[in-house]
Amino acid sequence: MKALWYAKWLVKAVTPPILLLGVKWIAIGLGLRKREHGQAPAGDPSMQEEPEWEYVPDGWQREAKGWNVDAVARAYRDKWPAYLAAIKAPSPLGVHHETAEVARDDAGAHNMLVSFAYVLALASRRRDGLSVLDWGGGLGQYFALARSVVPGLELEYHVRETPAVVAQGREVVPDVIFHEGVDCFDRSYDLVVASSSLQYEQDWQSLLEQLAGAADRYLYTARIPVALRAGSFVVLQRAHAYGYDTEYLGWVLNRDELLEAAGLPLAREFLLDARFSADGAPENPVEHRSFLFNR
Ligand SMILES: C[S@@+](CC[C@H](N)C(=O)[O-])C[C@H]1O[C@@H](n2cnc3c(N)ncnc32)[C@H](O)[C@@H]1O
Repeated sequence: MKALWYAKWLVKAVTPPILLLGVKWIAIGLGLRKREHGQAPAGDPSMQEEPEWEYVPDGWQREAKGWNVDAVARAYRDKWPAYLAAIKAPSPLGVHHETAEVARDDAGAHNMLVSFAYVLALASRRRDGLSVLDWGGGLGQYFALARSVVPGLELEYHVRETPAVVAQGREVVPDVIFHEGVDCFDRSYDLVVASSSLQYEQDWQSLLEQLAGAADRYLYTARIPVALRAGSFVVLQRAHAYGYDTEYLGWVLNRDELLEAAGLPLAREFLLDARFSADGAPENPVEHRSFLFNR
């Protein structure tokens, strides 16, 4: 087995890359090899698939459909019953709602959901109830998760979302208070959450300042792509594989810039098992992290 590996390595090392590519495409054309994501179909460069992640040196000047599209809201609604069934105790929490079908038994998703459960349990210690603002909280997937992991906790749960999601959310989850404007900042909350949403705001520092200002006790900024060496930069994600017919810009935030901008003491940092690379980006690959701040 090892000898075969070395032989392959040797052939690759001495063969010009253009020849290797040609062989790969012929193999794909003959059905002997599967096409990798982002690779042009053999013999038809005009049908070249664009990569999921693209580094955008021009940043926010780039046009993109963005998040406020019916496709996202409809996908959330269609998957809602399956999501509720999947997070029901005593099933394991390896549940991901942002996949074409709701994923179960996914250890990476388990880490993500149990981290939220820990934050919620910590914030609700010695309390009967909790007020929460969830920025970019979808239909309230974390609201349903909160009910499942800390049963009996009285929740006043606010979600700020795009108009498309708010319209669906008000129909599907009437127990959540939905906001499509900044009226969510007219008051403060015990816990403020922004899970995989801070990075979609061009002026992320101002948003972070507002989120921190609205947090009476805890601020949980989760699932943020972070650069550990390079400064913050912008990427475009094509999200078709997740059932969303859209593409959007987002930041990869430099970790130190993020911690400084939060202006609150860091209580706990969380690792996630999610990485991506974008050709030409100042740092590759980048990982995702979550941060819990405590006033
Ligand atoms: C990647 S999803 C994360 C959903 C959920 N928070 C989670 O972690 O599973 C990003 C969410 O942020 C929302 N979003 C994007 N821009 C927003 C904005 N300006 N205001 C509120 N929500 C926004 C999107 O509609 C989408 O539901």
